[in-house]
Amino acid sequence: MSPDSQRSQNPRESQDSHKPGDVRTLASYLDAWADDGLASTIRAVAGACAEIAGLVRGGALAGVLGETGGVNVQGERVQHLDDLSNDLLLKALERTGSCAGYASEEMEFAATFGEGAYLVTSDPLDGSSNIDVNVSIGTIFGVYPAGPAGFLAPGRTQAAAGYAVYGPSTMFVITNGTTVDGFTLGPESPEIPGAGDFLLTHPGIRCPQSGSTYSINEGYHDRWPPGVRAWNDYIKRQDLADGPAMSLRYVGSMVSDAHRTLLKGGIYLYPEDSTAPNGKLRLGYECNPLALVFETAGGAATDGRRAILDIVPSELHQRTPVAIGSRDNVALYGAFHSGERE
Ligand code: AHG
Ligand code: MN
Ligand code: MN
Repeated sequence: MSPDSQRSQNPRESQDSHKPGDVRTLASYLDAWADDGLASTIRAVAGACAEIAGLVRGGALAGVLGETGGVNVQGERVQHLDDLSNDLLLKALERTGSCAGYASEEMEFAATFGEGAYLVTSDPLDGSSNIDVNVSIGTIFGVYPAGPAGFLAPGRTQAAAGYAVYGPSTMFVITNGTTVDGFTLGPESPEIPGAGDFLLTHPGIRCPQSGSTYSINEGYHDRWPPGVRAWNDYIKRQDLADGPAMSLRYVGSMVSDAHRTLLKGGIYLYPEDSTAPNGKLRLGYECNPLALVFETAGGAATDGRRAILDIVPSELHQRTPVAIGSRDNVALYGAFHSGERE
């Protein structure tokens, strides 16, 4: 049987095929949302992501590679694309009227715009170390109601969340907490429809219940706590009772590693270690948005002890350990992390 004939004709079953003739745009998808303010906020984020995709596509020709020489609030060296992406999101959201404020990895303090029902958090450019080497990178965003907790609301309150991944194709994945849907940016090609529009290619994404790929920076093995090392040693054993031995994939861009994990199953982790007791990744604009995507798609997200979405933040740039992925894989990790299994 040829690979083509094995492929499902139903894009809901085959998460990586696109039914010819199905060209629903993100714009028309969002027009159907009952909440205009939420839809216009997402439209602004998606528009900025399409512009970022253009810059990423241009690479060295667009003059976007390299460092600015500055250091952000996290103490990380800022790349030109970090700054450019942040500016595009900030300006797009400021114009909406529906967004009351914007917090970002690249800004020490949140920007406030006045009236508006929503707040947006973002990692404008995720995977900065991969910019200069032409490897997939992304943008992550969470949309929170503009309530009394402001940007310090738990992730479960997010009205919507998602990410863009700038890979061989650009995708925009969004959840409103009910479904997870993926759109592909039409390329400038006479043979492919939808140039410049996001088209619905991955409706109703579901994360497989278990998977055989794990994704972690294993170079940090000796810094991990005993439970993380025990889990890591266990999943590499060939006589695994919980399924086949696992394969390692680590891009080093959370968005890219999470996107693969969402579609194919498995687990992505950035745990605490002896040099980073709360891990590296930020709760409000990296972990919470992806946690909402995964939980809505049937997956899970934990810091090892509790659901990421239940954490009540106390700081804008708070870090958290994270393990995200298929439900069974995340549960197994939790059992090792707690010492219930060893
Ligand atoms: P950012 O580029 O937004 O700072 O995020 C980088 C993050 C994440 O995308 C990735 O998974 C992780 O850092 C990689 O860190 P290590 O190099 O420590 O593995
Ligand atoms: Mn990041
Ligand atoms: Mn970033």
